[in-house]
Amino acid sequence: MSNIQSYITNHKDRFLNELIELLKIPSISADTAYKDDVLKTADIIKNSLVKAGCEHVEICQTDGYPIVYGEKIIDPNLPTVLVYGHYDVQPPDPLDLWDSPPFEPVIKNTELHPEGAIFARGACDDKGQMYMHVKAMEFMTTQGKLPCNVKFMIEGEEEVGSVNLSHYVKANREKLKNDVILISDTGMIAKDVPSITTGLRGLSYVEVEVTGPNRDLHSGLYGGAVANPINVLTKMIASLHDENNHITIPGFYDKVENLSDIERAEMAKAPFSLEDYKKALDIDAVYGEEGYSTNERNSIRPTLDVNGIWGGYTGEGAKTVIASKAYAKISMRLVPNQDWEEITELFKSHFETITPKGVTVKVTPHHGGQGYVTPIDSIGYKAASKAYEKTFGKTPIPQRSGGSIPIVALFEEELKSKTILMGFGLDSDAIHSPNEHFGIWNYLKGIETIPYFYKYFTELKT
Ligand code: BES
Ligand code: MN
Ligand code: MN
Repeated sequence: MSNIQSYITNHKDRFLNELIELLKIPSISADTAYKDDVLKTADIIKNSLVKAGCEHVEICQTDGYPIVYGEKIIDPNLPTVLVYGHYDVQPPDPLDLWDSPPFEPVIKNTELHPEGAIFARGACDDKGQMYMHVKAMEFMTTQGKLPCNVKFMIEGEEEVGSVNLSHYVKANREKLKNDVILISDTGMIAKDVPSITTGLRGLSYVEVEVTGPNRDLHSGLYGGAVANPINVLTKMIASLHDENNHITIPGFYDKVENLSDIERAEMAKAPFSLEDYKKALDIDAVYGEEGYSTNERNSIRPTLDVNGIWGGYTGEGAKTVIASKAYAKISMRLVPNQDWEEITELFKSHFETITPKGVTVKVTPHHGGQGYVTPIDSIGYKAASKAYEKTFGKTPIPQRSGGSIPIVALFEEELKSKTILMGFGLDSDAIHSPNEHFGIWNYLKGIETIPYFYKYFTELKT
């Protein structure tokens, strides 16, 4: 594999330009106005898989956006790696907070990325990270370095819950059969601190609607005499945490996996600076559940957060009004063993129970998914660890992440194989935020590291 570095040196401009072209298309799965762009992106991915040496490349239709599939089976007796990624992106809003338009990629240098970073929606999540696999595949097939079988499955609905992918997986178990699933859709601790993500949180996402009077009212004539849905909603939401920031929904913590002191001590060894963390976010203090560190709060503990809240008059100036309705979108991040459907039910019945007289509430569940943990003694983990050792010169640290990729738990359930999460993004890459970016160094390091995973996985497995 000695020539992966020279292959990257020779082709890196093209690797960058191809990614830039991909980033120009606004493949926003949440907004139907971008339907044609999402479909066009699937086509580009399809062509890129063909060029990278995949066979039987196809666009698989679903009830939503298509799944792009391709494979290269060199010998049925050799192991098979299934690569998963997503070509859809989050909406870019608020647009005015971007320093350059989200779908006009530009390369800029930053403090953490002196070699330059590509700024665009999807640069890191997940077009850039997914495309590393396509380029690693290109290297392996054109240079005769592919040691095993490969299957690619790239979807277009990850950012909206992967509902159609779950149907596809259930219906295609044989086709998707593999020995390990490889995903780059997470991050690492720092450029000089490689890490492998060993856990993802689950998710339950609900929307609530509080209705008071049958119409918007004059806040002078009626204020104080009828329930104001916005006042009520904010009070109800505030009651969902106690003074120690524990969630108050009865039964919420019943199935939460409690880590042993040894495991917690192991976690605490990961390099982390609270001062840098606060500085990066311009906050004077962190905030969260009593009794847990920042890294525990954002990975091994469940949370409840309002993601959006609205109602009443929000235009210019002042309008004196008591709105008839108030709304909020609420997410709960879950940890292994918590069942997202059960938690959704617990939320719903609790929220209904605490509804005061004078208003009615409606709770509508959106999507959700189970959390995931992967062991560090599997062949896949060992192969990934060796790959990082080779290209970073350091043993990667196992780290649980706070984010969610709900389909991963379903992969394990349906396909019975472990997922290895080799993420190359940084927390500061601003995924889902304005000015998302992906370091060129990270992009190329990913392309360099991935072929070693294949090599070591095949060696360890056969
Ligand atoms: N790639 C992210 C998840 C992620 C990012 C995990 C960084 C760990 C580290 C993924 O695209 C994502 O955004 N997932 C959503 C859930 C989905 C159902 C919308 C999330 O975590 O909010
Ligand atoms: Mn992603
Ligand atoms: Mn995402």
